[in-house]
Amino acid sequence: MKFAGKAKWISDNSFVFSGKKTSPHPMLFKKEFSLQGIIKSAQIVATALGIYELELNGEKVGNQFFAPGFTSYAHYLQYQVYDVTDYLKQENELLVTVAGGWAVGSYTMSRKNKFYGDRQALLLEIHLEYEKGEKMVLGTDTDWQVCENGSILEADLYDGETVDATIEMHKLSFRQATPEKLRIKPMLSIQTDGGVKVHEVLRPISVGHTPSGKLLYDFGQNFAGVVQLRICNAKNGQQITVKHAEVLNKHGELNTKFLRTAKATVTYICKEGAQEYHPRFTYMGFRYITVEGIEEENIEVSGFVLYSDIEQIGNFKCSNEMLNRLQENIRWSAKSNFVEIPTDCPQRDERLGWTGDIAVFAQTACFNFDMEKFLRKWLRDVRAEQLPTGGIPNTVPAHHYRFPYTLYHMATDFWGDVILLAPWAVYQATGNRAILEENYEAMKRYVGACQGWARMFSFGKRRYIWHTPAMCHYGDWTAPDGDFADWQRRSKWTATVSLYNTSSLLSRIAGILGNTKDEEEYRRYSETVAKSYSDILLNGTGTLTKEFQTGYVLPLYFGMLEGSVKEAALQNLVKLVKKNDYCIGTGFPGTPYILFVLADNGYADVAYKMLMNTKCPSWLHEVKTGGTTIWERWDALAEDGSCPWEDSKGGGMVSFNHYASGAVGDFLYRRVAGLEPLEPGYERFQVKPVPGEDITWAECETKSPYGSIRVRWEQKESIFRLMVTVPHGTECRVVLPSGQEYTVSEGIHEFKEEM
Ligand code: BGC
Repeated sequence: MKFAGKAKWISDNSFVFSGKKTSPHPMLFKKEFSLQGIIKSAQIVATALGIYELELNGEKVGNQFFAPGFTSYAHYLQYQVYDVTDYLKQENELLVTVAGGWAVGSYTMSRKNKFYGDRQALLLEIHLEYEKGEKMVLGTDTDWQVCENGSILEADLYDGETVDATIEMHKLSFRQATPEKLRIKPMLSIQTDGGVKVHEVLRPISVGHTPSGKLLYDFGQNFAGVVQLRICNAKNGQQITVKHAEVLNKHGELNTKFLRTAKATVTYICKEGAQEYHPRFTYMGFRYITVEGIEEENIEVSGFVLYSDIEQIGNFKCSNEMLNRLQENIRWSAKSNFVEIPTDCPQRDERLGWTGDIAVFAQTACFNFDMEKFLRKWLRDVRAEQLPTGGIPNTVPAHHYRFPYTLYHMATDFWGDVILLAPWAVYQATGNRAILEENYEAMKRYVGACQGWARMFSFGKRRYIWHTPAMCHYGDWTAPDGDFADWQRRSKWTATVSLYNTSSLLSRIAGILGNTKDEEEYRRYSETVAKSYSDILLNGTGTLTKEFQTGYVLPLYFGMLEGSVKEAALQNLVKLVKKNDYCIGTGFPGTPYILFVLADNGYADVAYKMLMNTKCPSWLHEVKTGGTTIWERWDALAEDGSCPWEDSKGGGMVSFNHYASGAVGDFLYRRVAGLEPLEPGYERFQVKPVPGEDITWAECETKSPYGSIRVRWEQKESIFRLMVTVPHGTECRVVLPSGQEYTVSEGIHEFKEEM
């Protein structure tokens, strides 16, 4: 079902919204219509500029939040189709609320508004089919009515929602809708996933009071979503205020400093008696809420966990409870940041489609969730937003944020690599070549841009070192041993590895797609980059002049080094890790790979010491201090639970819900449990556990296109046992810790050996 061409874009051109850094009042559109016979079926096709919700005869239609979804609106605007046959009566009233959302409301840390339009607008058709066969389409036109003084007074993605339940619908003063000419000309495309919905419903684990006397609820879990309030004995006009935060401050009050300008506040003005309410046009990232304006006995709160329609397909567990919690935290951060687009964080005035975060996390995501639809939708925007010179904007949908000082048309290493890394991760998990095919030209343009920047102003081998000024890169972003400037100073190393990895991956992809000329060309190019890294950036000796973990991890993981240089780099890395007391020292680019480099090169013991380390900075430090999601900064909380950033100026970068360093999840599946695809889509896969420390058993499962794969190993006394479920149509290579190998096909298989 699609638009039949009967609808016109409508709005209210008398509505002037001049507020800066805020969102407009929601618009309320109304259409009354009567039926002219018995209805066989009825559908609504709808989209909006802004985010909308339909109510037909007083009932919400569908269960999606934030329709039409978030896309690069200048290029694509999704529409939804709803079956409304069962909602219809003889006389009908359709109400559509359209809030500012991402298109018109305030968005990005500069709180700019009206990115895609000056005011909200609606495009909708009601398709009626009568039993007698007659068909009728009612489209939005100037007969529709509109007003801005409905019960939702304010709605802003960052600031929250204000609702006055005392406002009575029949008293609203509607006026005629006006035709609207959109500033943008997006292609209308049907929504291919189910959009954002309520998944889990959480109940608080404790209720108490803050020192200042506010009711304080702890959900025991940091997440993205909204509260649901069940209120009783309310007085007409009684005002309830709910504030949200991820952590408490040192005074025991909500720490809202790290939300920066996001107010994350819900204000609800009650009508008399009992009622239920949850916000519909905003969401927050939070674990704690305070509630003011009502007694505890008159309110019951729940947390609606909101994220896109992504199926959980995998899990990892082992004998160590802290690692299990880490796995949980990784999954919670993923869910919290899969809200329409892959975001960086769900709480502060950001929530942008930062490309680097998903670039490094995509592989872990694909073990845990079916990412295909979600990422294909977003990658369509990435392609649409690709810059004329081939660079990828740092956030997609693009808002052209100018930090680092990237000229508009530059390419940024690792962040832009997403155009290869995300499709590759999905391809590995699903075996579906379509995602490679549809992104291939964009990949080539991106790699071409990177090669161009590397070549610029240099000669000889240096043309294969990507050396544009540090301030144009993110470098070793969030490495715990430095600040912005230090991270960026490492960009020559990170960027050159990115140049290598994207070229060599593109060569593989070209091979898969049967393009042998490209395959050869990118392979040769990448080999030269590898040699240059080794000769120039590792001084031909395998030793960095100024050492940092990522500088060794990356070339080792991507196989760029050989012989004595490789050996020296490995030894240097091991020394650095030991000197650092087995604490992590990597930023976004190195974090996903460090444990692989150690474990795959004879240092599984060092990898495990690092993985199991609870000293800050480490993954389990976050678990030990009570983290329930993955943090942006390794040291967001100190070992005693205090926040070293609390007294610093401004809200800075202290998100407690950033999945990037959760990329270690890939290691849990691929090495601790031992499962990895050998052929895309698991047609051939390997089970080769790397046991370590005092872990006595580990298991994982993932749903491959052929069916579920399950792996479990345990070590009891001196016997190592491994069980593998191999789906029909696949083949599994098993490698036991002794090195003994087997190849098995469909069935449940068990292997044993003496340790
Ligand atoms: C975001 C990151 C992002 C980074 C890049 C931050 O503000 O939260 O996760 O990748 O900026 O600069």
